[in-house]
Amino acid sequence: MESIVLGVIIHEGRIVIQKLTEEVRPDFRGVPAVMPGGRVKDKERPEDAVVRKIKKDLGIDVLVEGIIATREHPLIPGSSVVYYFCTVMGSSKIQNKNKEKASSVQWVDIATAIILMLTLYSQVLAFLIRHIYGKTLPQNVTLPKLEWLSQDISGLGKKVREGELVAFPTETVYGIGADAFNASAVARIFEVKNRPADNPLIVHVFSLEAIERVAFGFDELSSALVKRFMPGPITVLLAKNNNVPSIVTAGSPYVGVRIPSHGLALEFLSASAVPVAAPSANKSGKPSATHHDHVIEAFGEQLPNVLRAGKTVFGLESTVVLPQNNERLVIMRQGAISQEELQKSFPHVEVAIATSVDLKHAPTPGSKYRHYAPTGKVEVLPLLPKNRLVARVERLYRKALSQGETVAILCTTEVQQLLPTSFTVLPLGSEKKMNAVASNLYSTLIECDARRITKILIQSFSEKKAGRTIMERIRRASEIGIS
Ligand code: TXA
Ligand code: MG
Repeated sequence: MESIVLGVIIHEGRIVIQKLTEEVRPDFRGVPAVMPGGRVKDKERPEDAVVRKIKKDLGIDVLVEGIIATREHPLIPGSSVVYYFCTVMGSSKIQNKNKEKASSVQWVDIATAIILMLTLYSQVLAFLIRHIYGKTLPQNVTLPKLEWLSQDISGLGKKVREGELVAFPTETVYGIGADAFNASAVARIFEVKNRPADNPLIVHVFSLEAIERVAFGFDELSSALVKRFMPGPITVLLAKNNNVPSIVTAGSPYVGVRIPSHGLALEFLSASAVPVAAPSANKSGKPSATHHDHVIEAFGEQLPNVLRAGKTVFGLESTVVLPQNNERLVIMRQGAISQEELQKSFPHVEVAIATSVDLKHAPTPGSKYRHYAPTGKVEVLPLLPKNRLVARVERLYRKALSQGETVAILCTTEVQQLLPTSFTVLPLGSEKKMNAVASNLYSTLIECDARRITKILIQSFSEKKAGRTIMERIRRASEIGIS
């Protein structure tokens, strides 16, 4: 007998059965696939409905062994999310009745199954939100660890309502949150970060309805953006309403609004029940935090409330966009969603990276300050064929060493393999996976500081899709500037 992992949500008689994708093992990265829901018939026991549904969709007989967990769904009061554990009966094989559904079933042992079921909880929440907006989850969402789910998330939400600061994860980077309606709490964010007062904060909310608590009704393009990309790594600039204190937007008539897609972020925002103003959780000018350890290391006692969720997914901040007259979409800050992706979603709209005129119209001061910079000097290497790049890196590395520098090379694993093993190399990931390079960039820069590196040699990437944002951040990290 083999075990099959299926998560089952029952809400008002509707069944949603979740299976796990192949990506889940071995490191628990991945998301549950979703089988369309069915209905629990009148007088039918829910577990019988599950058996019936699995038989219909996957062509296999299962025995429901028991309920693993039942929790009220925070989004749907009075509902229950039920995780059943099922074993497959006899030697029945999954029939490819529905290829798509059947192909993503993951076979695991019982202990793993139970852990997975419990850790799925937050992802179920993220799924439901997406489901409500008619979209699928991103493929690379990290499943939280069991112990992260036992943090007192509603307690942290209460702290925000009471005016405290709380650091929380998002799918991009960690943020330091405060009640967006509480000007003195927001002022403390600027204080702990040493953030210039003219740099506005993004307001994080949990749902479409909550956007209306901070912004005026929006035009067609704005609502299309929200529907297409939220929850997700995008921030849309909308006309701010009077509920939002001007400290949040640094006096701007626009408020940047974002619904993150990270399961724990959504739980936290739901528990907060107020819009949460939050910049990235780093000291001003430093690389953004992509792991809770970075936040704790940077702020220590200054920021005792940290919601822990390990590494973030994208590792680069959200893309900040300004919709204009239903015909133009201006990227005020490049980020996790590329220009190409936006253009593909809105073929009839001009998608442009902000010019100085745009920046004058809606100042995005984050773009003018020095940013993302480690303590060591950063030298950006030109885009060269591998053999020439390696020759140049070797020369620069030896020269820096002879000048008494502590040197590190930040490059792809492919370049690393061509360098002498005696060199200090902090790999960014494979050149074939630019998303991985994006997600490792800040943590690698932060590691340079931890290792007291004084000179950093960093590889360039071709400026397409994620590569463009990566290069923008690398260039900024290398600037010798102020603030
Ligand atoms: O992914 C993210 O966006 C992360 C997570 C925590 O949500 N947040 C983040 O915040 O990166 P922060 O404060 O580090 O960067 C926000 C950027 C800045 O460049 C800021 O100038 C711009 O967004 N911004 C925020 N509100 C704005 C507004 N009302 N008008 C123009 N620019 C705005
Ligand atoms: Mg920032």
